[in-house]
Amino acid sequence: MSTNSLMEDKQAGEATAIIRSPANLALIKYWGKSDPEKNFPANDSLSFVFESFWTQCEISTHSHTTSDVWQLFEYTDKELFQPLNPTPNFFEKGKKQLERIRLACGDARALTIKIGNNFPHGCGIASSASSMSALTTAALSAYTRSNSMQQLASHGWPLGKVAALSRLGSGSACRSFLPGFSWWERGDSPESQSVSSIEVHPDLQIMDTLVLVSSTPKEVPSSTGHLSAFTSPLYSPRLEAIPERIALCQSYMLENSFDQLGSLCEQEALDLHAIAMSATPSANYLLPKTSDILTWVRKQRKSSGIRFYFTLDAGANVHILSRTEDSETVKNLVNRSFPALDLMQSGVGSGIKWMDKADWPRSEHPNFDSLKRTEGQQVYGV
Ligand code: PMV
Repeated sequence: MSTNSLMEDKQAGEATAIIRSPANLALIKYWGKSDPEKNFPANDSLSFVFESFWTQCEISTHSHTTSDVWQLFEYTDKELFQPLNPTPNFFEKGKKQLERIRLACGDARALTIKIGNNFPHGCGIASSASSMSALTTAALSAYTRSNSMQQLASHGWPLGKVAALSRLGSGSACRSFLPGFSWWERGDSPESQSVSSIEVHPDLQIMDTLVLVSSTPKEVPSSTGHLSAFTSPLYSPRLEAIPERIALCQSYMLENSFDQLGSLCEQEALDLHAIAMSATPSANYLLPKTSDILTWVRKQRKSSGIRFYFTLDAGANVHILSRTEDSETVKNLVNRSFPALDLMQSGVGSGIKWMDKADWPRSEHPNFDSLKRTEGQQVYGV
């Protein structure tokens, strides 16, 4: 791990840490909580981290003042960050998370926090997972002067503990740490949750083509949807089916059975939305264009012979999963049928990273080859 990634102003005793944390996409979704305070999920989930959709967070300690300085940046096009008018929801969550971090590490020093995504936030692309994991890891790194997961561990913050603290800000944040595919197991209690790496077939190379139907933050945040999920009559049958689905999903990934995996992902996404719609209060995250695209995916799959499948988070944007070798064709097909919609593509990534430098407010698309990668443990409690 680079020695430059934590920049220290030794005279002033201050430190800066820069973290880039990926968003992640659940194939088997986390929906509903058994304990909302501790973010104890009602079910296990399986996901992968994105290579190209991330939150970057730069945090510096500053002892000379008592108030934090927040600078937020947002995606405006594929290569540009600009100052953000934060959604009240993000600010509320971020500040609350900072309070938790201070309490947990017993350091009350004020911070300057620069944070931004390279994709739209609050519209179903797991920005809370990437932002809460980035914020938590950057703040802990600055407070403890750590520049790697190993150093954090040596200061009393092993990966499981960092992920568990991130999880309190956003449940799915605990799935943004490890490379590749992860399994978040709920365990028997909030304290016994864990995340582990999943082995997949080496030829299972997946690309996500994200179709941006809307970049407007959704009206009902996921946190609200989680709370009402159990009121849906479809919810108990879903919870009963989850262990079998988790096992199936893992075996399809290990066997490289892409078609079976894709069908399972579609079923999962539709389940989540059926539950959201049939809950009280009901939430409809889908827009008319979303439904058009879902229908189109199934029709095109038949007529083109190219194997691609949809999944959705709690938002209107559609994730189209294909084998990497088919992703250019998929992109062209979507572009031809929906020329007005923006597309973003990402493969499977390598988890959270410490960065040597961050360019604010303008930042070019990442060159992942030059970045440092964490070599975290493969299993951790959260
Ligand atoms: O971590 P949260 O509270 O933002 O919930 C995430 C919920 C889904 O994105 C809809 C599903 C998932 O498992 O990521």
